[in-house]
Amino acid sequence: MTCKKSEQSNCGDNLSLYSKSSFPIGVAIESYDMVPGTRNKEIIDRQFNSFTAENILKPNSIHPQENTFNWSEADQMVDYAVNQNKRFHGHTLLWHNQLPNWMENFQGNSAEWEAMMKTHIQTVCSHYKGKITAWDVLNEAFNEDGTLRNSLWKQHIGASYIEKAFLFAHEADPSAILFYNDFNLALNDKKREAVLSLVRNLKQRNVPIHGIGLQMHISIYFPNNSTIASALKDFYQLGLKVHLSELDISLNPRGVDIDLNDDLLQKQAQKIHDLSILYQQIPKPYQYGITFWGHSDVHSWIPGFFGREDYPLLFDTNYEVKPMYCKFLESL
Ligand code: XIL
Repeated sequence: MTCKKSEQSNCGDNLSLYSKSSFPIGVAIESYDMVPGTRNKEIIDRQFNSFTAENILKPNSIHPQENTFNWSEADQMVDYAVNQNKRFHGHTLLWHNQLPNWMENFQGNSAEWEAMMKTHIQTVCSHYKGKITAWDVLNEAFNEDGTLRNSLWKQHIGASYIEKAFLFAHEADPSAILFYNDFNLALNDKKREAVLSLVRNLKQRNVPIHGIGLQMHISIYFPNNSTIASALKDFYQLGLKVHLSELDISLNPRGVDIDLNDDLLQKQAQKIHDLSILYQQIPKPYQYGITFWGHSDVHSWIPGFFGREDYPLLFDTNYEVKPMYCKFLESL
């Protein structure tokens, strides 16, 4: 279907990102992406060697009732990855969003909240021990001004919920690589400083934290390359593995009417190229991988979530490669 295109441009979907890359290339997936015989699955199988569940490991999905865990859908996905010799990245043990009602309405003192959090973390981690080798333990714990988000976890357990969460995960699976994951860490200095100081503090006290997830919901306009370079350096210099964990590159961050023209697509291609080159300057042991938050523009969360037109991913709405794909491939 893209033979003509690939002959012309030497870039087509008969190629494979991960086969060319020296670090894992990941993608967020939903079960409906993995239906045998579909174009979605074909793209995912060919291009990516690391998977993140876009939703189904989040607390509301995996732990819908206090005494019920909903394993079957996630198990199928995780087993698929393991059988293909591909990595499955666990996202996310704790968050302030996508919590089940029973957790939001949980009644108890701080010790009971802590026990509830521990049960959640340890049941999920233990279930996937040996299959999911790395977890986002905690997602988005900071506000944009660098203060700690007043999540239910913080309200009921106090700020120490953070170190406890990492300790509980480590206890359940001592060989798992444990990440803190957040957005705007390259863009926003205050937030980045707050996370860096959290990490320093945890490390000083031997709390097990091994990686940072920089979500990288970025745009063709910002952050600029030097800001990105300094963010990457700040984190690997603390000894953390760096995961660009949810990459998409918006063409329309301001949500205006846009004309999807070649100029925008070329800017997007240049941005991924620059980002990839910067990423590859990270010393190898700290390169955990780059994960895209979906494979095609059909799939992206951005239009639905933010209510704006956008085309932030590698494949277009016809599941054809975009200039962004070709430039990324070239950079690897
Ligand atoms: C998003 C999913 O892509 C959507 O399908 C869902 O409706 C909301 O969550 N930061 C994260 C991800 O850590 O889990 C979010 O994923 C996007 C922002």
